[in-house]
Amino acid sequence: MPRESRLFVKTSLVAIVVAFGAGGTMAIMKALGWGFPDVWATEHAHIAFVGWLVNLVIGIAWWMLPLNRERFPSTAGRYPPNAPYVVWWLLNAGLCLRVVSEPYLALGIVPRAALIVASCAQALAIVVFAVTVWARVRGPSHPAKGVR
Ligand code: HEM
Repeated sequence: MPRESRLFVKTSLVAIVVAFGAGGTMAIMKALGWGFPDVWATEHAHIAFVGWLVNLVIGIAWWMLPLNRERFPSTAGRYPPNAPYVVWWLLNAGLCLRVVSEPYLALGIVPRAALIVASCAQALAIVVFAVTVWARVRGPSHPAKGVR
């Protein structure tokens, strides 16, 4: 597995531990009748879906999808050299910024621009991922008989 994929998969493992920790904490607080702000559930869901699932999918997809050596000769057919790092930073810095800023937005402690920047960063990350991986979604270059 290439270094870039390991970065995404290990990030996803950190995120799932955090998401389960947060989910477990909220469940215990609910069971004890303490309650918690609704926005905690939103952040927990984002850590789980973006932090765990999206990082895992990107890491595995960039590793396992068919290689395109004509398009990406310098990375054994995988991606433009710096694309994984650009995507990792945009996605995960954007996620952290959202998780940290969103609970404070309503209180006016954090500027609205924080959530706008976080949202744009994450959306841009997925566009860069989708554009670079597009060239690898294809059939085998030397198909065996009967294989499409
Ligand atoms: C990958 C795993 C998980 C995913 C994708 C996930 C996803 C979600 C989603 C989408 C919500 C609703 C968020 C909202 O209302 O805005 C939620 C809420 C919640 N989750 Fe999870 N979750 C995961 C794991 C867990 C675990 C392991 C626990 C507890 C042990 C947990 C406890 C909770 C609690 C207590 C809530 C709030 C429910 C409420 O509003 O009362 N979650 N989760």
